[in-house]
Amino acid sequence: MTDEELLALMYDFYNEHVLRDQNDDIEYYLKQIEEYQSKKLLVVGAGTGRVAIPISKNIELSALDLDPARLKVLKNKEPNINTICCDIVDYKKDRNFDMIILPYSTLQFGGSGEKTNNMISSLTSLMDHNTVLIFDVSESFNNKDRSSRKLLFSDYCREVDDNIDVYYSAERYESYMEFLVDYYLEKQQKHLFENEKYSYYEPDLLTRLLDENGLYVSKKDDGYGNSKMLHKHLYHCRRL
Ligand SMILES: C[S@@+](CC[C@H](N)C(=O)[O-])C[C@H]1O[C@@H](n2cnc3c(N)ncnc32)[C@H](O)[C@@H]1O
Repeated sequence: MTDEELLALMYDFYNEHVLRDQNDDIEYYLKQIEEYQSKKLLVVGAGTGRVAIPISKNIELSALDLDPARLKVLKNKEPNINTICCDIVDYKKDRNFDMIILPYSTLQFGGSGEKTNNMISSLTSLMDHNTVLIFDVSESFNNKDRSSRKLLFSDYCREVDDNIDVYYSAERYESYMEFLVDYYLEKQQKHLFENEKYSYYEPDLLTRLLDENGLYVSKKDDGYGNSKMLHKHLYHCRRL
């Protein structure tokens, strides 16, 4: 098994330990599908299917992610979902989606304004006047503390049949935060690393990028679920 496959197998294990109220987004998206009466949906940044799988009932859903190993895990869990493995920046094929969802800060992924702009540009090219684009951006990175390496948790991971020590560190930069997760697989005596950068939430910049790409914000919700998750901003966009 490759390191990428091992990391993908530990992705749900990690999420189960760190995501709590984040999972309230699933109920939020189910409500949007019903309200917009969506029939053909694209989930961008679908990962291993945390959101895509539970919202896929009674709808034609495609799950896009740049990580092939994560999509393989998704497909094993739910073979009926169409998977597309590429960077959204390079995907310009299908214009028939009536809804496109980017869950959990996927639009902030990469840590640069240029990347965000390229993602919005590509998303716009997939939209017509009937498509609604919904993305979830988080303000939490703006004031999250940096952290030197610390043990986050230690537990048995069934998917890789090993005890895993998960270490975490975070560094702040001018326009993004960078996170490093170090998985130590005790039996295999092996470290695997995941590194991710997320841009800060800058509403004025985001509005300008949407406008320059020919999109407008038709609705914005702040938070979801009982806890409200108020640092989360759910943008609904349409083509101008
Ligand atoms: C924050 S995770 C969200 C994962 C999952 N949807 C969830 O909610 O648990 C972001 C996901 O988006 C993918 N991703 C980030 N940038 C992408 C891009 N430009 N094109 C396609 N996928 C991307 C990553 O590989 C990762 O799986």
